[in-house]
Amino acid sequence: MTSMEPRKIAKISHLVHEYSGIMVERVTTRQAEKKILDQMMRYKVNSIDDYIRILETCNHNPLAMDDLIADLTVSESFFFRNPAQFDFMLEVLLPEFFTLHGYQFPFRVWSAGCSRGEEAYSVAMLARYFQNRVPEARFSINAGDINSRNLQMAREGFFNSRSLRDKLPEFENRFGMKLGKPDSDGNCRVSDDIRSMVEFQRLNLKNLQSLQCLTGSDIIFCRNVLIYFDENLRNRLFEEFFKYLNPGGVVFLGETECMPAGIGGFTMVNHKNSYAYRKPLLSKQKT
Ligand SMILES: C[S@@+](CC[C@H](N)C(=O)[O-])C[C@H]1O[C@@H](n2cnc3c(N)ncnc32)[C@H](O)[C@@H]1O
Repeated sequence: MTSMEPRKIAKISHLVHEYSGIMVERVTTRQAEKKILDQMMRYKVNSIDDYIRILETCNHNPLAMDDLIADLTVSESFFFRNPAQFDFMLEVLLPEFFTLHGYQFPFRVWSAGCSRGEEAYSVAMLARYFQNRVPEARFSINAGDINSRNLQMAREGFFNSRSLRDKLPEFENRFGMKLGKPDSDGNCRVSDDIRSMVEFQRLNLKNLQSLQCLTGSDIIFCRNVLIYFDENLRNRLFEEFFKYLNPGGVVFLGETECMPAGIGGFTMVNHKNSYAYRKPLLSKQKT
């Protein structure tokens, strides 16, 4: 393999960063080079300059950029990842919300950086379980990702055993429901009922103006996404999340992620062995 000119790799890294906030340096240069070559083969281009030209049109035609980003990042996710956060939602956040507001508003959840929908469908199962006990409770569940191929797969709701591993069977037992019908290879299509509860849309977290769609959220899941961004973008995003959350709303981050103290007015709250960042209730809402 002939090596690529470093300034061409730097140019591509710059385009990826401009478009998505992702810092390619987080993926080692050697790996980045291999992934760029893979994408050039995929798009049948022989010269790196031609490939750069394709990426430069990404605002009109994001697929090539999506594919490169998908290759540079890890879209891995699985059902009920970090299960203690789902317990937090079920045991603390939902009872508190419906006690405070009654049933006039839906409880609104966003999964930002949702990959193929594992996180959002886990929330939908939990919501259905809650509704089986409290039928008046309503939910609004939205999910978004920069990668349109991920979104397509999310809408189809067909998962292989990697996504289903680990925690799903335990929650299916607890909730007394199945995610869907498994086939003989251990794959599973999400039931129509659970699929109908989630709305997927394209979301680019780098584009701060587009984050208005998060307005009125009671939970924002943004897990294992911010690791790719620089500190400046991460902190801007925390401030935007604070702005768009409802009072009392929380952000859940990935297990190894945290928010620096003093951002946006969040306080850290915990339940059992999970924690979240909470926007305070308005003083008249406090009991
Ligand atoms: C490791 S997955 C995390 C999936 C899920 N949140 C979880 O924790 O299991 C990271 C996801 O972030 C998405 N992503 C990366 N940059 C993004 C951006 N700028 N805007 C929205 N999503 C982005 C990727 O496409 C990928 O699906």
